[in-house]
Amino acid sequence: MMYSEDIVEEVRSRNDIVDVISSYVNLKKKGSRYFGLCPFHNEKSASFCVSPDKQLYNCFGCGAGGNVYTFVMEYENYSFPEAIKSLADRAGVKLPEVEQSAEDKKKADFNALLLEINKEAAKYFYYQLRTNRGEIGYKYLIEKRQLSEETVKKFGLGFSNKTSNDLYQYLKSKGYRDDVLKESGLVTIDERGCFDKFWNRVMFPIMDIHNRVIGFGGRVMGEGEPKYLNSPETRIFDKSRNLYGMNIARTSRRPNIIVCEGYLDVIALHQAGFSNAVASLGTAFTSQHASLLKRYTNEVLLTYDSDNAGTKAALRAIPILKEAGLSAKIIRMAPYKDPDEFIKNLGAEEFQKRIDEATNSFFFEIEVLKRDFDMNDPEQKTRFHNEIAKKLLVFEEEIERKNYMDAIAREYDIDVKSLEKLVNTYGYKKLSQPTYQRQAPVDRQAKDDGIKYAQRLMLTWLVEEPALFKKLEGIISPKEFTEEFYGKVAKLLFEQYETSGTVNPAKIIDYFTTEEEHKQAAALFNTSIREELSDSEKERAINETVRRIKANWCEIAGGKATDFNELMEISRIKQSLQNLHISIN
Ligand code: UTP
Ligand code: MN
Repeated sequence: MMYSEDIVEEVRSRNDIVDVISSYVNLKKKGSRYFGLCPFHNEKSASFCVSPDKQLYNCFGCGAGGNVYTFVMEYENYSFPEAIKSLADRAGVKLPEVEQSAEDKKKADFNALLLEINKEAAKYFYYQLRTNRGEIGYKYLIEKRQLSEETVKKFGLGFSNKTSNDLYQYLKSKGYRDDVLKESGLVTIDERGCFDKFWNRVMFPIMDIHNRVIGFGGRVMGEGEPKYLNSPETRIFDKSRNLYGMNIARTSRRPNIIVCEGYLDVIALHQAGFSNAVASLGTAFTSQHASLLKRYTNEVLLTYDSDNAGTKAALRAIPILKEAGLSAKIIRMAPYKDPDEFIKNLGAEEFQKRIDEATNSFFFEIEVLKRDFDMNDPEQKTRFHNEIAKKLLVFEEEIERKNYMDAIAREYDIDVKSLEKLVNTYGYKKLSQPTYQRQAPVDRQAKDDGIKYAQRLMLTWLVEEPALFKKLEGIISPKEFTEEFYGKVAKLLFEQYETSGTVNPAKIIDYFTTEEEHKQAAALFNTSIREELSDSEKERAINETVRRIKANWCEIAGGKATDFNELMEISRIKQSLQNLHISIN
């Protein structure tokens, strides 16, 4: 970690989690906690909970959770250094200069410079659009493409002049050096001279999710090749990680995100009220795009062009989306080519209807598959049915597979029993492949879960009532938490208690680096058991839990022990468990 533990803790403690989250989510107090609609998934009832005592948040719906750092990291898509910077600013804490290696510093400075240059260029293009020379571009956008003045502003659209190097001249006048300008991709510099990359085009600044300009697309006004020219990839412009319009779409608070093909599709959709539209940047859809989307939504609506290339692109994107845990649907544009044309001709209401009628991606895949077969030829028809059966195996859950099977059988007029037989045949083939891993027998699984639960419960108790530490002294220690993650948490909690006489769960979260661990820890600390049990019930439950935890440890330690004395000791502990009684009052 770049910052010391003390400074991380200071910044955290100076940013009350309820204050910070309140600026993003509308929270209402209920008892000792606050509730609101979870910003990380779409929901109608409030299952997002913030605890001021523990300085943690936790969503019972989607499992998101963590401390104030986790929250801004997830919500703003910040890295940890970005999160600590923004929270330190907010609380007026001055962060110490971090020691960066000379090389890192040079890199960071250079990237900052490239961002600055792109911003200057965007301002320049934006200004040119409003001059006499830019009138042709302005007319193109407003008249030909039917964009409103407001839309042009919102997307910062601009114009690059017909002259060959006025952007270069402008940036030079601002003091930027040739070597830096060259790396920005906005100019070419060689023995023939210095030229602007973009000229006589309407300009689309491309922004990252923090609204920083990272590159440009430029379109010819009318016919001409290439239709669009894009900034090359640079150190700040990674086409496989950014989506056009994501800076706006991420705050649209709609249940899904629309992915389309072109800049102007995104803009036309936003203008028509669909502020959840994004597009890839003239390159194929990647798994990084999918994880970016996954941060903000669970459902993606694909509106690729209705031509062959668009269909292919959609078919390629579907498994990538699925892999990232997103559900995908296809919006039909026919008889129009793309969303821009569709909206121009039929309007927003009709587009909304297409959204409502969007096809589930599986049906879409089958529909496209069908085009390869001639249904009048029995042999081809049989092959088509076999392909469907193979495809149905992607649904691992029986009921889901059955539902899809029924729907497809109905749609394509296939006898459902025969289809089911076919699916089962392929299913057995798949199962009998040698790579197939058999699952652990159920009872073993259940026992493991029981022990896991006991360890988890114990940790929750210790956080709820640190007084228990004293009562459990010499009885329970971190080593008995045999689940790896719980073991780590236990070690940290016991250490905190020993050094300060109390526990600080929000601080513990900072020892974990992955989002998954943050979630797990927050869920762990945010469970409350106090209300549910009477004192005598609780005492019984604690004793039982301690016994289970220790018995499990004895079993594991016994299995590993190599020394006779050690074995005797374990057996003694095991015996003593029968008489164990911890009184909690
Ligand atoms: P399309 O050719 O479908 O154009 O390209 P479009 O978005 O419908 O544009 P208009 O309506 O004719 O103005 C889709 C996307 O592919 C990339 C661009 O990102 C474009 O938005 N593209 C296309 C290029 O990068 N270069 C090209 O020459 C063409
Ligand atoms: Mn178009």
